[in-house]
Amino acid sequence: MTRIVYVNGAYKRYPEAAVHAEDRGFQFADAIYEVIEIRDGRLVDATRHLARLARSLRELDIPAPMSDAALMQVIGQVIRRNRVRDGIVYMQVTRGAGPRDFALPPVGTSPTIVVLARAQRKGWSAEQAEVGIAIKTIPDNRWGRCDIKTVMLLPAVLAKNEARSSGAKEAWFIDAHGNVTEGASSNAWIVTAAGSLVTHPLGAQILPGVTRATVIDAAKLEGLKVEERIFALDEAFRAREAFVTSATNIVMPVVRIDGRPVGDGKPGNFARRLRTRFHHVAEISAG
Ligand code: PDD
Repeated sequence: MTRIVYVNGAYKRYPEAAVHAEDRGFQFADAIYEVIEIRDGRLVDATRHLARLARSLRELDIPAPMSDAALMQVIGQVIRRNRVRDGIVYMQVTRGAGPRDFALPPVGTSPTIVVLARAQRKGWSAEQAEVGIAIKTIPDNRWGRCDIKTVMLLPAVLAKNEARSSGAKEAWFIDAHGNVTEGASSNAWIVTAAGSLVTHPLGAQILPGVTRATVIDAAKLEGLKVEERIFALDEAFRAREAFVTSATNIVMPVVRIDGRPVGDGKPGNFARRLRTRFHHVAEISAG
């Protein structure tokens, strides 16, 4: 349970943790966010997450609310005050509050920052990985800058909901050419018959996943071949294995896509191996 939330300089009790009614995050989704895994009371890949947070802010010209060192202090406090050992840190930065206006607010408007931590039962993800997940594909109707981690998540919310209604845990977005871009809240991967790991190249169409980057490091250390290239849904149907990566799922095997089994319909060895290696390769730091 989340007890304490950091909001704009103060640690608030959960029921009182609120932002202004005219916050631009609320009115325009003029905001960015990050999710970091907490494992055994420590942060996983914090440096990469904070670097992506800084990049998202730069791309949107939102001023950084504080230095990385100060933010790490706040994150540590939030983890301790909520006594989280395993779970996630969620942080969001918006362009701030002011009378509703599409044009950007005056220079000097303070950004809004919220940092919260939430416990998750240790082992839930490992148990899920034993059986894998099903995927439902959905046309990619998002905007042209999916590389920025904005809170403009309505297409992902609706896609995930459609996936859930059909018994799938995640949605994969399919572009106008029939290619898989990424998941609603994860990066998408397949393994070819020859044993290459394939994932969409970085660019405006996908989020540069932190887990994706660390899985690439892990794969290279394991001597596996990684191809960052476009792949069609048809290729995914014929893949030997498939999986998704995210800070919450780490490496999660995909066993069905649109009702069709992937490979033998069971979690595959590549996914299992990468999942096992992941936390040995990721940066683990004190919160
Ligand atoms: N989602 N692609 C999208 C669209 C995402 O929303 C996410 C993460 C990822 C994976 O990124 P990372 O490996 O850095 O977590 C890819 C987070 C977990 C969320 O929205 O909860």
